[in-house]
Amino acid sequence: MQKIPMSSPDITSIEIDALNQVLITRWLSLGPKIGEFEQAFAGYAHAKNAIAVNSGTSSLHLAMIAAGVSDGDEVITPSFSFIASANCVLYERGNPIFVDIDPETSNIDPNLIEEAITERTRAIIPVHAFGQPADMDPILEIARKYNLVVIEDACEAIGAEYKGRRAGTLGEAATFAFYPNKQMTTGEGGMIVTDNEEWANLFRSLRNQGRDIFDAWLNHTRLGYNYRMDEMSAALGLVQVQRIEELLANRDQVAAWYNERIDQIGGIRKPYIAETTTRMSWFVYVIRCQDGVDRNALMDYLQAHGIPSRPYFVPIHLQPFYQEKFGWKHGDLPNTEKAGDTFLALPFSGVMTKEQVDYVCDHLRDGIEVAQYSSVRNSATAD
Ligand SMILES: Cc1ncc(COP(=O)(O)O)c(C=O)c1O
Repeated sequence: MQKIPMSSPDITSIEIDALNQVLITRWLSLGPKIGEFEQAFAGYAHAKNAIAVNSGTSSLHLAMIAAGVSDGDEVITPSFSFIASANCVLYERGNPIFVDIDPETSNIDPNLIEEAITERTRAIIPVHAFGQPADMDPILEIARKYNLVVIEDACEAIGAEYKGRRAGTLGEAATFAFYPNKQMTTGEGGMIVTDNEEWANLFRSLRNQGRDIFDAWLNHTRLGYNYRMDEMSAALGLVQVQRIEELLANRDQVAAWYNERIDQIGGIRKPYIAETTTRMSWFVYVIRCQDGVDRNALMDYLQAHGIPSRPYFVPIHLQPFYQEKFGWKHGDLPNTEKAGDTFLALPFSGVMTKEQVDYVCDHLRDGIEVAQYSSVRNSATAD
Protein backbone atom coordinates (compact mmCIF):
# COMPACT_ATOMS: atom_id res chain seq x y z
CA MET A 1 0.00 0.00 0.00
CA GLN A 2 1.25 3.50 -0.81
CA LYS A 3 1.02 6.42 1.64
CA ILE A 4 0.15 9.59 -0.26
CA PRO A 5 0.61 12.96 1.49
CA MET A 6 -2.32 15.42 1.37
CA SER A 7 0.07 18.14 0.17
CA SER A 8 3.78 18.76 -0.01
CA PRO A 9 5.90 21.88 -0.53
CA ASP A 10 8.34 22.04 -3.46
CA ILE A 11 11.70 22.76 -1.81
CA THR A 12 14.97 22.50 -3.75
CA SER A 13 18.63 23.07 -2.91
CA ILE A 14 18.14 26.72 -3.94
CA GLU A 15 15.77 27.31 -1.02
CA ILE A 16 18.03 25.37 1.37
CA ASP A 17 21.07 27.44 0.33
CA ALA A 18 19.11 30.69 0.68
CA LEU A 19 18.11 29.81 4.24
CA ASN A 20 21.64 28.78 5.13
CA GLN A 21 22.90 32.13 3.90
CA VAL A 22 20.53 33.97 6.24
CA LEU A 23 21.63 31.87 9.20
CA ILE A 24 25.28 32.54 8.40
CA THR A 25 24.66 36.33 8.53
CA ARG A 26 22.95 36.00 11.95
CA TRP A 27 20.49 38.72 10.78
CA LEU A 28 17.23 36.94 11.48
CA SER A 29 14.65 39.74 11.64
CA LEU A 30 14.13 43.22 10.14
CA GLY A 31 16.95 42.58 7.69
CA PRO A 32 17.38 42.92 3.93
CA LYS A 33 15.46 39.80 2.84
CA ILE A 34 12.06 41.17 3.75
CA GLY A 35 12.41 44.12 1.37
CA GLU A 36 13.79 41.94 -1.43
CA PHE A 37 10.89 39.51 -1.05
CA GLU A 38 8.32 42.32 -0.97
CA GLN A 39 9.73 43.92 -4.07
CA ALA A 40 9.78 40.66 -6.01
CA PHE A 41 6.26 39.82 -4.87
CA ALA A 42 4.86 43.26 -5.78
CA GLY A 43 6.35 42.82 -9.25
CA TYR A 44 4.75 39.44 -9.69
CA ALA A 45 1.38 40.53 -8.29
CA HIS A 46 1.31 43.68 -10.47
CA ALA A 47 0.89 45.79 -7.31
CA LYS A 48 2.59 49.02 -6.24
CA ASN A 49 3.14 47.85 -2.67
CA ALA A 50 3.55 44.46 -1.02
CA ILE A 51 3.83 44.18 2.76
CA ALA A 52 4.96 40.86 4.19
CA VAL A 53 3.40 39.59 7.42
CA ASN A 54 3.48 36.38 9.45
CA SER A 55 0.27 34.79 8.08
CA GLY A 56 -2.60 35.21 5.67
CA THR A 57 -4.84 35.70 8.69
CA SER A 58 -2.74 38.67 9.88
CA SER A 59 -2.97 40.22 6.44
CA LEU A 60 -6.77 39.93 6.50
CA HIS A 61 -6.89 41.45 9.96
CA LEU A 62 -4.81 44.45 8.89
CA ALA A 63 -6.98 44.91 5.81
CA MET A 64 -10.06 45.13 8.05
CA ILE A 65 -8.39 47.86 10.10
CA ALA A 66 -7.50 49.84 6.97
CA ALA A 67 -11.05 49.40 5.67
CA GLY A 68 -12.25 51.06 8.87
CA VAL A 69 -14.33 48.13 10.08
CA SER A 70 -15.39 48.64 13.70
CA ASP A 71 -18.16 47.93 16.23
CA GLY A 72 -21.21 46.45 14.50
CA ASP A 73 -20.07 47.14 10.94
CA GLU A 74 -21.11 44.52 8.44
CA VAL A 75 -18.80 42.85 5.96
CA ILE A 76 -20.20 40.69 3.18
CA THR A 77 -18.30 37.49 2.48
CA PRO A 78 -18.93 33.84 1.59
CA SER A 79 -19.29 31.17 4.25
CA PHE A 80 -17.73 28.70 1.82
CA SER A 81 -14.16 29.61 2.74
CA PHE A 82 -11.43 29.10 5.28
CA ILE A 83 -12.43 30.46 8.70
CA ALA A 84 -9.93 33.35 8.67
CA SER A 85 -11.79 35.26 5.95
CA ALA A 86 -14.70 35.76 8.37
CA ASN A 87 -12.81 35.80 11.69
CA CYS A 88 -10.88 38.88 10.56
CA VAL A 89 -14.16 40.83 10.72
CA LEU A 90 -14.77 39.65 14.28
CA TYR A 91 -11.27 40.79 15.33
CA GLU A 92 -12.49 44.36 14.70
CA ARG A 93 -15.87 43.69 16.34
CA GLY A 94 -17.74 43.70 13.04
CA ASN A 95 -20.30 41.17 11.77
CA PRO A 96 -19.56 38.89 8.85
CA ILE A 97 -22.68 38.68 6.67
CA PHE A 98 -22.59 35.47 4.68
CA VAL A 99 -23.88 35.39 1.14
CA ASP A 100 -24.47 32.08 -0.66
CA ILE A 101 -22.23 30.83 -3.46
CA ASP A 102 -22.80 30.13 -7.11
CA PRO A 103 -23.14 26.32 -7.14
CA GLU A 104 -20.91 25.95 -10.20
CA THR A 105 -17.96 28.21 -9.40
CA SER A 106 -18.40 27.80 -5.61
CA ASN A 107 -17.43 31.49 -5.25
CA ILE A 108 -19.70 34.19 -3.81
CA ASP A 109 -22.78 34.73 -6.00
CA PRO A 110 -22.75 38.41 -7.05
CA ASN A 111 -26.51 38.29 -7.69
CA LEU A 112 -27.14 37.84 -3.97
CA ILE A 113 -24.91 40.61 -2.67
CA GLU A 114 -27.15 43.62 -3.14
CA GLU A 115 -29.96 42.22 -1.01
CA ALA A 116 -27.50 41.67 1.86
CA ILE A 117 -26.41 45.33 1.95
CA THR A 118 -27.64 47.49 4.85
CA GLU A 119 -26.69 50.88 6.28
CA ARG A 120 -24.02 49.13 8.34
CA THR A 121 -22.27 47.47 5.39
CA ARG A 122 -18.73 48.69 5.01
CA ALA A 123 -16.83 46.14 2.94
CA ILE A 124 -16.98 43.03 0.77
CA ILE A 125 -14.42 40.24 1.00
CA PRO A 126 -14.71 38.04 -2.08
CA VAL A 127 -12.66 34.87 -1.69
CA HIS A 128 -10.96 33.34 -4.74
CA ALA A 129 -11.69 29.80 -3.56
CA PHE A 130 -9.35 26.98 -4.59
CA GLY A 131 -7.40 29.38 -6.84
CA GLN A 132 -10.34 30.42 -9.03
CA PRO A 133 -11.13 34.16 -9.06
CA ALA A 134 -14.57 35.26 -7.88
CA ASP A 135 -16.73 37.02 -10.49
CA MET A 136 -15.22 40.41 -9.72
CA ASP A 137 -16.77 42.82 -12.25
CA PRO A 138 -20.31 42.75 -10.82
CA ILE A 139 -18.87 42.80 -7.29
CA LEU A 140 -16.81 45.91 -8.07
CA GLU A 141 -19.83 47.56 -9.64
CA ILE A 142 -21.96 46.98 -6.54
CA ALA A 143 -19.12 48.24 -4.35
CA ARG A 144 -18.90 51.45 -6.39
CA LYS A 145 -22.67 51.94 -6.23
CA TYR A 146 -22.81 51.60 -2.42
CA ASN A 147 -19.37 53.04 -1.67
CA LEU A 148 -18.01 49.82 -0.16
CA VAL A 149 -14.40 48.74 0.19
CA VAL A 150 -13.41 45.52 -1.62
CA ILE A 151 -10.68 43.39 -0.05
CA GLU A 152 -9.81 40.34 -2.13
CA ASP A 153 -8.96 37.23 -0.20
CA ALA A 154 -6.45 35.89 -2.71
CA CYS A 155 -4.82 33.59 -0.14
CA GLU A 156 -5.50 30.59 -2.40
CA ALA A 157 -5.03 32.31 -5.73
CA ILE A 158 -1.53 33.58 -6.40
CA GLY A 159 -1.09 34.05 -10.15
CA ALA A 160 -4.76 33.43 -11.00
CA GLU A 161 -6.34 35.68 -13.62
CA TYR A 162 -9.86 37.02 -14.04
CA LYS A 163 -10.66 38.12 -17.60
CA GLY A 164 -6.92 38.60 -18.13
CA ARG A 165 -6.43 40.63 -14.92
CA ARG A 166 -4.34 39.36 -12.00
CA ALA A 167 -6.25 38.27 -8.92
CA GLY A 168 -5.17 40.63 -6.17
CA THR A 169 -5.16 43.79 -8.30
CA LEU A 170 -8.91 44.23 -8.48
CA GLY A 171 -9.88 45.50 -5.01
CA GLU A 172 -8.48 48.19 -2.72
CA ALA A 173 -6.15 45.58 -1.21
CA ALA A 174 -5.62 41.83 -1.45
CA THR A 175 -4.23 39.20 0.87
CA PHE A 176 -2.03 36.17 0.14
CA ALA A 177 -0.97 33.24 2.32
CA PHE A 178 2.10 31.01 2.29
CA TYR A 179 1.34 28.04 4.57
CA PRO A 180 3.21 24.94 3.27
CA ASN A 181 0.19 23.57 1.37
CA LYS A 182 -0.03 26.76 -0.71
CA GLN A 183 1.29 27.21 -4.27
CA MET A 184 4.38 28.87 -2.77
CA THR A 185 5.43 28.79 0.86
CA THR A 186 7.39 30.68 3.50
CA GLY A 187 6.53 28.14 6.25
CA GLU A 188 4.08 30.48 7.94
CA GLY A 189 3.55 33.81 6.22
CA GLY A 190 1.33 36.17 4.31
CA MET A 191 1.38 39.31 2.17
CA ILE A 192 -0.92 42.28 1.62
CA VAL A 193 -0.76 44.10 -1.69
CA THR A 194 -2.24 47.51 -2.40
CA ASP A 195 -1.79 50.47 -4.71
CA ASN A 196 -2.95 52.80 -1.92
CA GLU A 197 0.22 54.40 -0.47
CA GLU A 198 -1.48 55.51 2.73
CA TRP A 199 -2.70 51.99 3.39
CA ALA A 200 0.74 50.56 2.62
CA ASN A 201 2.33 52.81 5.26
CA LEU A 202 -0.42 51.91 7.70
CA PHE A 203 0.19 48.18 7.12
CA ARG A 204 3.94 48.63 7.70
CA SER A 205 3.22 50.39 10.97
CA LEU A 206 0.51 47.97 12.16
CA ARG A 207 2.63 44.86 11.57
CA ASN A 208 5.47 46.44 13.58
CA GLN A 209 3.78 47.27 16.91
CA GLY A 210 2.29 50.52 15.61
CA ARG A 211 5.65 52.19 14.96
CA ASP A 212 5.65 54.78 12.22
CA ILE A 213 8.62 54.81 9.86
CA PHE A 214 10.30 57.63 11.77
CA ASP A 215 9.36 56.42 15.24
CA ALA A 216 12.17 55.42 17.56
CA TRP A 217 12.17 51.73 18.56
CA LEU A 218 10.14 52.32 21.71
CA ASN A 219 7.75 54.90 20.26
CA HIS A 220 4.38 53.64 19.10
CA THR A 221 2.11 55.97 17.17
CA ARG A 222 -0.89 53.63 17.15
CA LEU A 223 -2.13 50.29 18.44
CA GLY A 224 -0.18 47.70 16.49
CA TYR A 225 0.76 44.04 16.46
CA ASN A 226 3.77 41.87 16.02
CA TYR A 227 2.82 40.50 12.61
CA ARG A 228 6.36 40.72 11.18
CA MET A 229 7.76 38.07 8.86
CA ASP A 230 11.26 36.88 9.84
CA GLU A 231 14.28 36.81 7.52
CA MET A 232 14.32 33.01 7.05
CA SER A 233 10.73 33.05 5.83
CA ALA A 234 11.40 36.03 3.57
CA ALA A 235 14.47 34.34 2.06
CA LEU A 236 12.38 31.23 1.38
CA GLY A 237 9.60 33.34 -0.10
CA LEU A 238 12.01 35.20 -2.35
CA VAL A 239 13.23 31.97 -3.97
CA GLN A 240 9.70 30.61 -4.23
CA VAL A 241 8.30 33.71 -5.90
CA GLN A 242 11.23 33.65 -8.34
CA ARG A 243 10.22 30.04 -9.12
CA ILE A 244 6.46 30.70 -9.09
CA GLU A 245 5.80 30.06 -12.79
CA GLU A 246 7.54 26.70 -12.53
CA LEU A 247 5.62 25.88 -9.33
CA LEU A 248 2.28 26.76 -10.94
CA ALA A 249 3.10 24.85 -14.13
CA ASN A 250 3.84 21.72 -12.11
CA ARG A 251 0.46 22.05 -10.41
CA ASP A 252 -1.23 22.56 -13.79
CA GLN A 253 0.26 19.26 -14.90
CA VAL A 254 -0.96 17.35 -11.84
CA ALA A 255 -4.45 18.87 -12.22
CA ALA A 256 -4.47 17.84 -15.90
CA TRP A 257 -3.63 14.23 -14.93
CA TYR A 258 -6.47 14.25 -12.43
CA ASN A 259 -8.95 15.83 -14.89
CA GLU A 260 -8.23 13.19 -17.48
CA ARG A 261 -8.77 10.31 -15.06
CA ILE A 262 -11.76 11.78 -13.25
CA ASP A 263 -13.63 12.34 -16.51
CA GLN A 264 -13.68 8.54 -16.85
CA ILE A 265 -15.09 7.84 -13.38
CA GLY A 266 -18.84 7.92 -12.76
CA GLY A 267 -20.41 9.40 -9.61
CA ILE A 268 -17.98 12.32 -9.26
CA ARG A 269 -17.28 15.53 -11.16
CA LYS A 270 -14.02 17.34 -11.70
CA PRO A 271 -13.62 21.00 -10.64
CA TYR A 272 -15.59 23.55 -12.66
CA ILE A 273 -13.57 26.34 -14.27
CA ALA A 274 -15.56 29.48 -15.17
CA GLU A 275 -15.15 31.27 -18.50
CA THR A 276 -14.02 34.38 -16.61
CA THR A 277 -11.09 32.40 -15.17
CA THR A 278 -8.48 33.08 -17.81
CA ARG A 279 -5.91 31.48 -15.57
CA MET A 280 -6.57 28.98 -12.83
CA SER A 281 -3.99 28.81 -10.05
CA TRP A 282 -4.40 25.28 -8.70
CA PHE A 283 -4.33 25.39 -4.91
CA VAL A 284 -6.30 22.24 -4.15
CA TYR A 285 -7.98 19.65 -6.34
CA VAL A 286 -11.60 19.31 -5.21
CA ILE A 287 -14.03 16.82 -6.72
CA ARG A 288 -17.82 16.87 -6.31
CA CYS A 289 -19.65 13.72 -5.30
CA GLN A 290 -22.91 13.37 -7.16
CA ASP A 291 -26.23 12.23 -5.73
CA GLY A 292 -26.06 8.65 -4.51
CA VAL A 293 -22.37 8.78 -3.51
CA ASP A 294 -21.75 8.83 0.23
CA ARG A 295 -18.83 11.27 0.47
CA ASN A 296 -17.85 10.22 3.98
CA ALA A 297 -17.85 6.52 3.10
CA LEU A 298 -15.61 7.38 0.14
CA MET A 299 -13.22 9.22 2.47
CA ASP A 300 -13.06 6.17 4.76
CA TYR A 301 -12.33 3.88 1.83
CA LEU A 302 -9.52 6.12 0.58
CA GLN A 303 -8.04 6.46 4.08
CA ALA A 304 -7.95 2.67 4.43
CA HIS A 305 -5.77 2.62 1.29
CA GLY A 306 -3.29 5.27 2.50
CA ILE A 307 -5.00 8.17 0.72
CA PRO A 308 -5.99 11.19 2.83
CA SER A 309 -8.81 13.48 1.66
CA ARG A 310 -10.66 16.41 3.22
CA PRO A 311 -14.22 17.73 3.15
CA TYR A 312 -13.31 21.13 1.77
CA PHE A 313 -14.60 23.58 2.89
CA VAL A 314 -16.68 22.98 6.02
CA PRO A 315 -18.92 26.09 5.83
CA ILE A 316 -18.00 28.84 8.29
CA HIS A 317 -21.59 29.62 9.28
CA LEU A 318 -21.97 26.03 10.57
CA GLN A 319 -18.87 26.16 12.76
CA PRO A 320 -20.02 25.73 16.36
CA PHE A 321 -19.19 29.21 17.60
CA TYR A 322 -20.76 30.93 14.58
CA GLN A 323 -23.97 29.00 15.20
CA GLU A 324 -23.93 29.79 18.91
CA LYS A 325 -22.90 33.43 18.70
CA PHE A 326 -24.78 34.55 15.58
CA GLY A 327 -27.61 32.03 15.27
CA TRP A 328 -26.64 30.73 11.83
CA LYS A 329 -28.16 27.32 11.16
CA HIS A 330 -28.54 24.55 8.62
CA GLY A 331 -30.71 25.67 5.73
CA ASP A 332 -29.52 29.32 5.74
CA LEU A 333 -27.17 28.94 2.77
CA PRO A 334 -28.30 25.98 0.64
CA ASN A 335 -25.61 26.08 -2.07
CA THR A 336 -22.84 26.49 0.48
CA GLU A 337 -24.17 23.59 2.52
CA LYS A 338 -24.57 21.34 -0.51
CA ALA A 339 -20.95 22.04 -1.44
CA GLY A 340 -19.91 21.43 2.17
CA ASP A 341 -21.62 18.02 2.06
CA THR A 342 -20.41 16.85 -1.33
CA PHE A 343 -17.00 18.41 -2.10
CA LEU A 344 -13.86 16.41 -1.44
CA ALA A 345 -10.26 17.62 -1.70
CA LEU A 346 -7.88 14.93 -2.96
CA PRO A 347 -4.13 14.78 -2.29
CA PHE A 348 -2.54 17.48 -4.39
CA SER A 349 0.79 19.25 -4.86
CA GLY A 350 3.20 20.20 -7.60
CA VAL A 351 5.55 17.37 -6.63
CA MET A 352 2.95 14.62 -7.04
CA THR A 353 3.85 12.01 -9.64
CA LYS A 354 1.61 10.56 -12.36
CA GLU A 355 1.87 7.19 -10.56
CA GLN A 356 0.52 8.75 -7.37
CA VAL A 357 -2.38 10.37 -9.24
CA ASP A 358 -3.14 7.01 -10.87
CA TYR A 359 -3.01 5.28 -7.49
CA VAL A 360 -5.50 7.80 -6.04
CA CYS A 361 -7.80 7.54 -9.08
CA ASP A 362 -7.78 3.72 -9.16
CA HIS A 363 -8.93 3.72 -5.53
CA LEU A 364 -11.43 6.48 -6.16
CA ARG A 365 -13.03 4.36 -8.88
CA ASP A 366 -13.24 1.34 -6.56
CA GLY A 367 -14.23 3.45 -3.54
CA ILE A 368 -17.15 4.99 -5.35
CA GLU A 369 -18.73 1.58 -5.85
CA VAL A 370 -18.54 1.02 -2.09
CA ALA A 371 -19.75 4.57 -1.37
CA GLN A 372 -22.71 4.18 -3.73
CA TYR A 373 -23.65 0.94 -2.03
CA SER A 374 -23.32 2.54 1.41
CA SER A 375 -25.43 5.49 0.31
CA VAL A 376 -28.25 3.12 -0.76
CA ARG A 377 -27.95 1.26 2.54
CA ASN A 378 -28.03 4.51 4.54
CA SER A 379 -31.16 5.75 2.84
CA ALA A 380 -32.81 2.33 3.34
CA THR A 381 -32.01 2.57 7.07
CA ALA A 382 -33.33 6.14 7.18
CA ASP A 383 -36.65 4.94 5.75
C1 LIG B 1 -9.12 31.57 1.75
C2 LIG B 1 -8.11 31.69 2.85
N1 LIG B 1 -8.09 32.82 3.58
C3 LIG B 1 -7.19 32.97 4.57
C4 LIG B 1 -6.27 32.00 4.89
C5 LIG B 1 -5.38 32.21 6.08
O1 LIG B 1 -4.04 32.05 5.85
P1 LIG B 1 -3.05 31.56 7.03
O2 LIG B 1 -3.31 30.14 7.28
O3 LIG B 1 -1.69 31.83 6.47
O4 LIG B 1 -3.32 32.43 8.22
C6 LIG B 1 -6.24 30.82 4.15
C7 LIG B 1 -5.26 29.78 4.46
O5 LIG B 1 -5.47 28.62 4.46
C8 LIG B 1 -7.20 30.65 3.11
O6 LIG B 1 -7.24 29.51 2.40
